[in-house]
Amino acid sequence: MSDNRVQFGTKLGVIATTVGSAVGLGNIWRFPYEAGTHGGGAFLLMYIFFILVIGIPVICAEFIMGRGTRRNIFGAFRMLHSCRQWAWIGYMGIIASILILSFYSVVAGWTLEYFTQSLTGGIASMDYGVRNQSFDEFSTGWRPVMWTLVFLAFNAVIVLRGVRKGIEKASNILMPILFVILILFCVNSLFMPGAREGLEFLFKPDFSKVDSSVLIGALGQAFFSLSIGLGTMMIYSSYFSEETPLVKSAAMTASLDTLVAILAGIIIFPAVFTFDAEPAAGPKLVFEVLPDIFHQLPGGVVWSTLFFFLLFLASLTSTISMSEICVAFFCEQLGLSRKRAALLNTGIAMTLGTLCALSFGALNGFRIFGLTIFDLFDYASSNVMLPLGGMLISIFVGWFIDRNVVVAQLKGTGTIPGWFLRLVIFSLKYVAPAGIGLVFLAGLGVI
Ligand code: PFF
Repeated sequence: MSDNRVQFGTKLGVIATTVGSAVGLGNIWRFPYEAGTHGGGAFLLMYIFFILVIGIPVICAEFIMGRGTRRNIFGAFRMLHSCRQWAWIGYMGIIASILILSFYSVVAGWTLEYFTQSLTGGIASMDYGVRNQSFDEFSTGWRPVMWTLVFLAFNAVIVLRGVRKGIEKASNILMPILFVILILFCVNSLFMPGAREGLEFLFKPDFSKVDSSVLIGALGQAFFSLSIGLGTMMIYSSYFSEETPLVKSAAMTASLDTLVAILAGIIIFPAVFTFDAEPAAGPKLVFEVLPDIFHQLPGGVVWSTLFFFLLFLASLTSTISMSEICVAFFCEQLGLSRKRAALLNTGIAMTLGTLCALSFGALNGFRIFGLTIFDLFDYASSNVMLPLGGMLISIFVGWFIDRNVVVAQLKGTGTIPGWFLRLVIFSLKYVAPAGIGLVFLAGLGVI
């Protein structure tokens, strides 16, 4: 079975799919709002630190397991170790993927609303101030439920029909366009009256603001943004060829992903200070500020139509990857057909997604630990399950699997200096697990 698995044909294919999964709403929507609520500069610094010392080693660990076994997360654990309990990490990955798919689709649904509003010119005709109210009005109503379901239907069609190849080909072309547009918007933001204040907010760390919530938030953002800790990178790397250099691909994915998040920050924060928005506005931040940016741009309606369309596609390449975890599990472990598996995944996400969409309106009063359903799903998956999954995966690769497998995978068909190999293994054995453990302990108030 493992021998006739399809493999990514080209180097670009490898990078485009892993980056396609990593780059999405996490960079453009979640990063600015998390940075905004956690004090800006200090958050950014911690986020980059976690990407470097924990994120990249964990991506390598997932790659080693994925390509080393050419199996999904369950199969990979089973193949590499006789103790069956390790595969339980896979269950956490599946639960996390469903929770993320549910709330992520709500935000992807917002991009669809903004896309249609841009197409019809609705965005441009709103006056400043009213626009801010209009997000509240929209998000507390029923339309977000409709868009969440529409988005999940798109996702289902792609997962079901296996037209992934088409989407991936399209995104190979369209994602670079998104990148260019982001750079243009950055330049535009740098000329805004609030540019200096915005950039200071984003880049000047105020260490007095670093507390355990900033640490947990930054670690969670690093995991969420890189799509790690739940088996996504593992399943994608099971399609890598033997020639794909793992460490280089991990570093490349992480750098591009971080770059997009920083670009989004440079776009949003100058605008936040120019238009007098609240940096700590939470999940609605980007959706309130972006229309203001488009409003002052010449040809703003065209820009916003294009931008929201590309953002929708970027979300889709991310949701396809998270659905894949669940669908592969339903097919390979429960023996369902691919069609049933995709429908079951979509059905669950539609139900939970509806609850998430309503948690800004009708269900806003329903709270668990003081959090709405949307916030709870986000917090539990990004800040708890993914880092915990990442910690266990790096412990597994660092301590429990045959060192020869690790070295063979890291080397691939190329060569790697011995010191570098030792550094990666050292990070997997000690740095990543201890780092994640310390952040958890800080979160629990133990240290
Ligand atoms: N990394 C994606 C983003 O930043 O938008 C979100 C994501 C995709 C998380 C796939 C988890 C996942 F498995």
